[in-house]
Amino acid sequence: MALIAPSILSADFANLESEIAKIETAGADWVHVDVMDGGFVPNITIGAPVVKYIKPITSLFVDVHLMIFNPERHIPDFIKAGSDLVTFHMEAFRYAAGSTEKLEHQLASSNFDKRLTGEETQEDWEAVGKTSTDYDIEKILNTVQLVKTSGARAGISINPATPVSALEQIIKELDLVLLMSVNPGFGGQKFKPVVLEKITQVVELAKANGRSVGTDFTQGELAIEIDGGVAPGAIAEDLKKAGANVLVAGSAVYGAEDIQKAISEIKS
Ligand code: DX5
Ligand code: ZN
Repeated sequence: MALIAPSILSADFANLESEIAKIETAGADWVHVDVMDGGFVPNITIGAPVVKYIKPITSLFVDVHLMIFNPERHIPDFIKAGSDLVTFHMEAFRYAAGSTEKLEHQLASSNFDKRLTGEETQEDWEAVGKTSTDYDIEKILNTVQLVKTSGARAGISINPATPVSALEQIIKELDLVLLMSVNPGFGGQKFKPVVLEKITQVVELAKANGRSVGTDFTQGELAIEIDGGVAPGAIAEDLKKAGANVLVAGSAVYGAEDIQKAISEIKS
């Protein structure tokens, strides 16, 4: 069993209320809200005002995934608007090669085309940074604290090309780790199986840091969420077997003829 968090990225935005009601009656656990800024990822989607309108029309747990630079500037607004959990990206706090400048500008230009087509590799990613551990850890920890003190659960996401070791210094502080199984930016991409071994690595890292893995935040558990290309059948099975406990699915849910069937097949 895993919790399922359908992504409204694949929903009909002109009818969000009924689109969210659909997943709620079909047995969804969370509603996943993908926020993109046109810089960290190529697309632009929605902002905090949309979360504000979603919150009162659903009893689902509101799971906000920020794919944006400078998440700390926007987090208070997203939490005021009703986010129950806010996840931001480790890579938004990565330094540029050979300097203490943030990676922002290089990232936005150098790998942009490859990211658009999902072809960015670990090597491409490494080429614009110094090493995989060059993150502004202090700022990341402050941002995690900002989420928590503003009243939400805090998650960190890493892209397919970012190693799990990047989480070593922060895993103790997190409620959730979101492993991307596609390069962020679009719904409907092909699942990258590399995420399976990363789940095992997160489970091990959690253990080494005295964290138990699960979705009961009140008990201090660490949730492992997977996002991108998730579908019923072998993919969902493999993810759960590896230890994932929250599965995001956009096109596999909203594109399904029978949403209830898709949700129950992904969950169990
Ligand atoms: C990708 C988003 C995902 C996406 C999932 O950048 O973070 O949440 O909507 O969509 P599917 O399930 O279609 O891959
Ligand atoms: Zn997402």
